Amino acid sequence: MDLSSSTRKMSIKQHITTFTIVMVTSFIGSLFWIKVLTSFEKEDNTLLGISNTSTYTSKKPMVSSETFTVLIYTGQSFLKPFIQHFRKKKCRSVPNCIISENVSDMQKSHAVIFNDVNLPGKIPQRAKNQLWIFHGMETVHFIRKPSKHWDDQFNFTMSFRKHSDIVRPYGKIVRREKEIKRNYTEVFRKKKHGGVWMSGHCPVPSKRKALAQEIGKHMHVDLFGRCGARPCGTASTMLSDCLKTVSRDYKFYFSFENTICPDYTTEKLFNIYLYDLEIIPVVNGPANAAEYLPKGTFINALDFSSASELAKKLKEIGASEEKYTHYLKEKDKYYDAGNAEVFSDAMCQLCNKLAGTSMNPNGNNSKGNSENYWTRLMKNNC
Ligand SMILES: *[C@@H]1O[C@H](CO)[C@@H](O)[C@H](O)[C@H]1NC(C)=O
Ligand SMILES: *[C@@H]1O[C@H](CO)[C@@H](O)[C@H](O)[C@H]1NC(C)=O
Ligand SMILES: *[C@@H]1O[C@H](CO)[C@@H](O)[C@H](O)[C@H]1NC(C)=O
Ligand SMILES: *[C@@H]1O[C@H](CO)[C@@H](O)[C@H](O)[C@H]1NC(C)=O
Ligand SMILES: *[C@@H]1O[C@H](CO)[C@@H](O)[C@H](O)[C@H]1NC(C)=O
Repeated sequence: MDLSSSTRKMSIKQHITTFTIVMVTSFIGSLFWIKVLTSFEKEDNTLLGISNTSTYTSKKPMVSSETFTVLIYTGQSFLKPFIQHFRKKKCRSVPNCIISENVSDMQKSHAVIFNDVNLPGKIPQRAKNQLWIFHGMETVHFIRKPSKHWDDQFNFTMSFRKHSDIVRPYGKIVRREKEIKRNYTEVFRKKKHGGVWMSGHCPVPSKRKALAQEIGKHMHVDLFGRCGARPCGTASTMLSDCLKTVSRDYKFYFSFENTICPDYTTEKLFNIYLYDLEIIPVVNGPANAAEYLPKGTFINALDFSSASELAKKLKEIGASEEKYTHYLKEKDKYYDAGNAEVFSDAMCQLCNKLAGTSMNPNGNNSKGNSENYWTRLMKNNC
């Protein structure tokens, strides 16, 4: 009796100890997870994925009431509508973060964005603690490399590259709440031709024209644009009648970028989603396109060993109403939130950095990376 009761006591004591250890460990563990999850939430806007909503999804309770001015140094005219959009929308977590386009605000600005295409010849005077951002939206082949004297000037990079400090892709694919309704049979029956490719620039590093021509040896492909045989309004991001017609008549749209570079997909592709065009895009890469374009809505040429293998697959899909419309139906579940929206996301990332820096003035701004901004940005040579 005595013995067993003492063992029971022991075991109760052990249980209590074990229980305590488990409780303390899981408490510490949950603190860890809360921290991890909060940091994910913080980084939410920087992700280049497919989201279910076009608004900032983070339910961040932290709102900074501080005022920040971000100067866009000699901005380009095409940025103006995006800036207007940001001014209306604001950054939820830092609502008093504003954009100036007036160089007279240089001294009072907390951050200054310089565009690769119109850097001032002479380095302007930097205000105290001012962050300078290098902004460029092209790959290494087409971006304008700043001259040597800019080498140590930039604190952050801003580009379509996912690893840049401020990420600004050319579009953002979002899942629709309500799906589009179409008569897919009718859409399919109207299509008379195989593939279409259009471009205004050639030659380019990706050798896209050669690829389009090679595919054309195995299936019907029409070439449009200044680089093809017939003109088709592609110079602007507006939906042209030509693009509309082409989307009605053709099955596949060869959206070939000038360079195959990670994360590099321009509005050429995003417009197909932005305007809900009833055509299936075929991209020439990059390999990581599926990270930001929904699977089953596009075809990546890089997934095929040759142009003839790709053409074979396209012909197979194009010959079957069921297979073809499956892609279209899948694509119709999504839309592109647009360039203005992505620009606002990018600005908000910067505003969050400014708010974070002011709260933690000794924090590292350049990610503690000793590499030059250019080397960092042009990773993998593109
Ligand atoms: C987005 O919506 C889809 C379909 O409604 C759902 O399967 C998916 O889990 C959602 N993703 C997120 C991140 O909420
Ligand atoms: C820029 O700011 C200066 C000084 O505040 C002001 O005089 C000027 O009118 C502004 N320019 C524009 C285009 O708003
Ligand atoms: C930003 O870059 C400048 C020039 O390299 C440097 O002097 C400054 O300390 C940097 N600012 C921060 C906050 O890191
Ligand atoms: C869809 O279009 C086809 C072909 O034009 C037609 O036969 C069919 O009745 C239409 N279906 C609906 C639901 O309207
Ligand atoms: C900033 O980064 C440098 C280089 O990685 C590191 O030595 C330094 O300790 C960091 N400072 C802070 C405050 O984190």
